[in-house]
Amino acid sequence: AKNVGILAMEIYFPPTCVQQEALEAHDGASKGKYTIGLGQDCMAFCTEVEDIISMSLTAITSLLEKYEIDPKNIGRLEVGSETVLDKSKSIKTFLMQIFEECGNTDIEGVDSTNACYGGTAALFNCINWVESCSWDGRFGLVVCTDSAVYAEGPARPTGGAAAVAMLIGPDAPIVFESKLRGSHMVHAYDFYKPNLASEYPVVDGKLSQTCYLMALDSCYKRYCGRYEKFEGKQFSLNDANYVVFHSPYNKLVQKSFGRLLFNDFLRNASSVDENAKEKLAPFSTLLGDKSYESRDLEKASQQAAKPLYDTKVHPTTLIPKQVGNTYTASLYAALGSLIHNKHNTLAGNRIMMFSYGSGLTSTMFSLGLNEGQHPFSLSNIATVMNIAEKLKARHEFPPEKFVETLKVMEQRYGSKDFVTSKDTSLLAPGTYYLTEVDSIYRRFYAMK
Ligand code: ACO
Repeated sequence: AKNVGILAMEIYFPPTCVQQEALEAHDGASKGKYTIGLGQDCMAFCTEVEDIISMSLTAITSLLEKYEIDPKNIGRLEVGSETVLDKSKSIKTFLMQIFEECGNTDIEGVDSTNACYGGTAALFNCINWVESCSWDGRFGLVVCTDSAVYAEGPARPTGGAAAVAMLIGPDAPIVFESKLRGSHMVHAYDFYKPNLASEYPVVDGKLSQTCYLMALDSCYKRYCGRYEKFEGKQFSLNDANYVVFHSPYNKLVQKSFGRLLFNDFLRNASSVDENAKEKLAPFSTLLGDKSYESRDLEKASQQAAKPLYDTKVHPTTLIPKQVGNTYTASLYAALGSLIHNKHNTLAGNRIMMFSYGSGLTSTMFSLGLNEGQHPFSLSNIATVMNIAEKLKARHEFPPEKFVETLKVMEQRYGSKDFVTSKDTSLLAPGTYYLTEVDSIYRRFYAMK
């Protein structure tokens, strides 16, 4: 198979959200901390009728319907998620309900889990399958689904919720440059979920930022090494039209892009413009761990990278800023934002992708874009995702009601023997919702 990649995408996020400005005031944080300090606008969350299974059922059903894909034509289904609803039964098996209905139970793949990286692992599995000799000619399907919720405290505004579904096959408009990948994986305790009775992670916020930036440096160096090996020339940010990051909150994305420019400056200063050179020069001897501690370097590289950020990164930030950290879906929600904003000008472009999952696993890889052919075209993907309308149709909860909802969800997590309100008044037609968890923990869903 040639030009294997993403043929089609659909995104779903809950219609319920809270404005960061209101949450900031409610939490007694200083004005601007969540909006400017973290760079976030709004945050989506699941109410008691939604969860990672209902969101992924919705995203997949909608993708199959809108691109007119016969469910029999799916040969592999992979799920990325870090939200645990069952320690044994995969989310994938819940999703099989869609395919059983038309008699297709011949579908490989299960779930992949490691914090926010599971979606990328699932995606690579599907890409590799289509590129391998075990491929049977059918499509692969990947869904990244997460509900990111934190205990009360500084991490709470960095939550979010969404599911992204992606159809994988040959002759795609979004092609994986499969030779160009760089990974970095080590043991770290920056963010983890050892308490199986709670949905909330244990998180060392500062450590997680440093781990993220170290992983970014390491992946970028390896990616550049691969590029040089296969292309016979040095790589710099000039060779990428856009850079898409796993986006826990926008400020980290701004810092990360600055960090990449600093890498370029150290490796080959001639690839960086005069203004950036001047701003970064005082830091040219700052190496290793010290460079992660320097607030001055952080600020200088963010400033030096600002003009490039506006063209190469800003168009990718819409959903991450409006919906929040969607864990495994975050990187792909950012890619979706780019396609939404720039679909008519992306043909011929290269897009860099950086995937990070705490604990930790990370990979940098790249995509080559072409217009594609209907229904698998960039413009049709933008039409199907319909992001502007979905954002507009949301319902804002006051912070008090958001906090109350999270309390209910805390009680519901891991419990049995309850029926939900079945209140679907805020859900769009075609949305799946949770109706009941019975006395032996079986979960039941219906479609509005
Ligand atoms: N106006 C403008 N900016 C402000 C204001 C204000 N009133 N108050 C604070 N700020 C700025 C700070 O200066 C800081 O920005 P800077 O780093 O550029 O200086 C930013 O707002 C955040 O303030 P902090 O005091 O650093 O925030 P805090 O420590 O309270 O929490 C954190 C932030 C650590 C990100 C927390 O939300 C968290 O733990 N989140 C979860 C972990 C996470 O997302 N890690 C990322 C990678 S791992 C993953 O994806 C899960």
